[in-house]
Amino acid sequence: MSLRLRAGLITTAVVGAGAVILAQGAAFASVPATPPAAPGHQTSAPADSLRSLASRVGLRIGTAVNTDALASDSDYRSIAATQFSTVTPENVMKWDTIEPTQGAYNWAPADQLVAFAQQNGQLVRGHTLVWHNQLPAWLTAAAPSMTPDQLRAVLKKHITDEVTHFKGKIWQWDVVNEAFNDDGTLRDSIWLQKLGPGYIADAFRWAHAADPKALLFYNDYNIEFTGPKSNAAYSLVQQLKAQGVPIDGVGFQTHLDTQYGLPDLQNNLQRFSALGLKVAETEVDVRTTLPVTAVEQNAQVGGYTSTLQACLAVRDCISYTVWGFGDGYSWVPAVFAGEGAADIYDENLQPKAEYTALQQTLALAAGAQQRGGGDRH
Ligand code: G3I
Repeated sequence: MSLRLRAGLITTAVVGAGAVILAQGAAFASVPATPPAAPGHQTSAPADSLRSLASRVGLRIGTAVNTDALASDSDYRSIAATQFSTVTPENVMKWDTIEPTQGAYNWAPADQLVAFAQQNGQLVRGHTLVWHNQLPAWLTAAAPSMTPDQLRAVLKKHITDEVTHFKGKIWQWDVVNEAFNDDGTLRDSIWLQKLGPGYIADAFRWAHAADPKALLFYNDYNIEFTGPKSNAAYSLVQQLKAQGVPIDGVGFQTHLDTQYGLPDLQNNLQRFSALGLKVAETEVDVRTTLPVTAVEQNAQVGGYTSTLQACLAVRDCISYTVWGFGDGYSWVPAVFAGEGAADIYDENLQPKAEYTALQQTLALAAGAQQRGGGDRH
């Protein structure tokens, strides 16, 4: 059976043609041990919650968190606390929030999310240190006239100060985000223009110096497919490893769209992990055209199921994170006109079939493990 999905693209370029698989029957084996929860954590997560089920197979399941919703919507807060075992700040650790004015840091929104995570026994994915988007206006304005040495010093200070501020509180950092174009060339960002490709290795070295225990990730979209972009990312991290650069993992964002094809994600997770890296699905959602038909929703269910199965099947896939959980808070409608319904809860924060699919996939994996179906450690 093929659901005839084609994988989601954030840009218009098409990659991964022909790379259509469903991870049906994927072995629910080889999931690594979960790191310990934060000390003193309290959670009233029900046994059939995503986080409880995921913990039975040694997987961390996470969500991006909209901190405005967390502060204002008690239902949102309750779901974030009880269903997930990791959180990622959707926006508040990005440079424009952290340092809106040069030298004047705004840590409070991210500190509040870290405190929420600690209260609820959750780990934090830090997102993101080096990106071409959501840069502060002062930096965007000043960068073109800076010398390479000046810009390099600004970037080093940003990474050092932010990683130091959160030292010991971040499980995984997305150190460099979206450095490639879909054709596999390096993105023409201010970082590449002024600093050359070496900015990537430098970023990892600076982050590691500031918090040697945090897991450091390269994170990108459309690398779920085998194609020019995935191959370029593979070559990059292979070189970084060979050069002794402190990189620990690769994040596969996994923004899918029912009008495109499913990626050969398990294959890509596997080949990156074979380089001695951890892998993670970091921003999963499955958008579709509105209004949603039954066929499209079935395809969305297939997208969530197969991406989770792919992670479960790869020993070094250490976390599965959805990019928000409620359709009312999704980034998708603002970016893709006429599309949405990408999340696992509806606009009223009621669980959808996509939620049930994740629940059932985890329950099946836990059952398979109990029957001796897999060596998870
Ligand atoms: O905070 C301002 C607010 O002051 C202003 O009034 C308002 C007016 O538009 O904008 C607000 O900023 C918005 C910000 O989200 C916070 O809500 C930006 O306009 C908006 O562009 C920004 O969108 C975020 C987007 O990254 C930016 O590229 C999305 O929430 C966020 O989900 C999205 O996340 C990215 C990941 O970081 C990387 N991978 C792709 C993913 C989806 O695009």
